[in-house]
Amino acid sequence: MASSFNTKYPSIDDLRNKAQKRMPKFAFEYLDGGCNEDVNLHRNTSELREVQLKPQYLRSYSGSSLKTKLFGMDYDAPFGIAPVGLQGLMWPNSPEILAKAAFEENIPFILSTVTTTSIERASEITEGKSWFQLYHPTENSLRDDIIKRAEAAHCPVLVILCDVPTFGFRPRDIRNGLAMPPKMSINNILQVLGKPAWALQTLKYGQPNFETLKPYMPKGLDLKQLGKFMNQTFSGRLNAEKIKPIRDMWKGKLVIKGVASHEDAEEAIRLGLDGIIVSNHGGRQLDAGESTIKPLATIAEKYGDQITVMMDSGIRSGSDIARSIATGAEFTFLGRSFMYGVGALGAQGGEHTIALLKAELQQVMEQVCSKNVSDLPKHLIK
Ligand SMILES: Cc1cc2nc3c(=O)[nH]c(=O)nc-3n(C[C@H](O)[C@H](O)[C@H](O)COP(=O)(O)O)c2cc1C
Repeated sequence: MASSFNTKYPSIDDLRNKAQKRMPKFAFEYLDGGCNEDVNLHRNTSELREVQLKPQYLRSYSGSSLKTKLFGMDYDAPFGIAPVGLQGLMWPNSPEILAKAAFEENIPFILSTVTTTSIERASEITEGKSWFQLYHPTENSLRDDIIKRAEAAHCPVLVILCDVPTFGFRPRDIRNGLAMPPKMSINNILQVLGKPAWALQTLKYGQPNFETLKPYMPKGLDLKQLGKFMNQTFSGRLNAEKIKPIRDMWKGKLVIKGVASHEDAEEAIRLGLDGIIVSNHGGRQLDAGESTIKPLATIAEKYGDQITVMMDSGIRSGSDIARSIATGAEFTFLGRSFMYGVGALGAQGGEHTIALLKAELQQVMEQVCSKNVSDLPKHLIK
């Protein structure tokens, strides 16, 4: 077991429970919740766990490797850290902690446009290896400027997002009056007072800000003005007209995240994208939608030889990673699991979570006698 593995937390659920104790309620609920009635949040994990693998014990076996090639880059494991907004609000300095862990463990880290560190800082921490997820700006000049910054920071992969044409309807966040920076209602102050580690770290690192967007934001916005700025600055609805200029401009790999239908997968191929992340945003957008493992199976089978197919949403273990890959994903991403890790263990959380997922996945690979990650589909029970 890697030295970064903390034996007190041998599952993502242990990390989640510990994170819940250490984070203020408004921050934990923002991280943990889905949308509406949380139906798709639970469906993601439960349907993924219906995938079963066949062991083959009586074979010669010379070891398993988690190493995976993706877009010409060599990674040490077939999973990465999904883009998550407002990270510093959930745990201070968390995007920096996760970017560093990803760099040290040689897995991809995707920086969200609306998180709390900048493109340039993430690139510095990862020596130019971090990917960047773009929320689509309304103004072309802003879009071009952000893309140029990602290019100057040597991001190898740009990820555009198609599943946020409107904000998810999230009752907890509405109830909690979630805002950036956090709205200090009496209720929120009481929650923060009960979480000394979070409060101390927030004092140390300061109030979280949208660091990538800072150059474009008027100074001294109050909460209402900030909300208005965000609504005016981004328009989440993507289409061919918006994707074409990005494809023309971006010379690196271009990935679209949030694809959950074969129609959108076909459009992505037609527009010359390099990869798709089959995802439903961790069940945070369309509660009436399918779990991601369902469209993954058909998309991978139909289009896997034309475009790189990856998946996120609902993955909570190395076994879940194996299930996704066996179903057809070439690579997987996890959002909440890594944030639970940091919420539970602070600066050690990123490396511990990576070590945990690697140990679990390695065990599955040895159990089914799979030499390489790409052999996992042979073990899928159909
Ligand atoms: C709190 C939170 C914030 C998120 N923010 C973003 C974001 O800014 N951009 C993005 O592309 N996806 C965002 N996502 C979606 C994740 O990238 C990913 O698709 C999702 O977390 C995967 O599901 P999982 O949490 O079950 O692993 C967010 C997810 C969570 C939980």
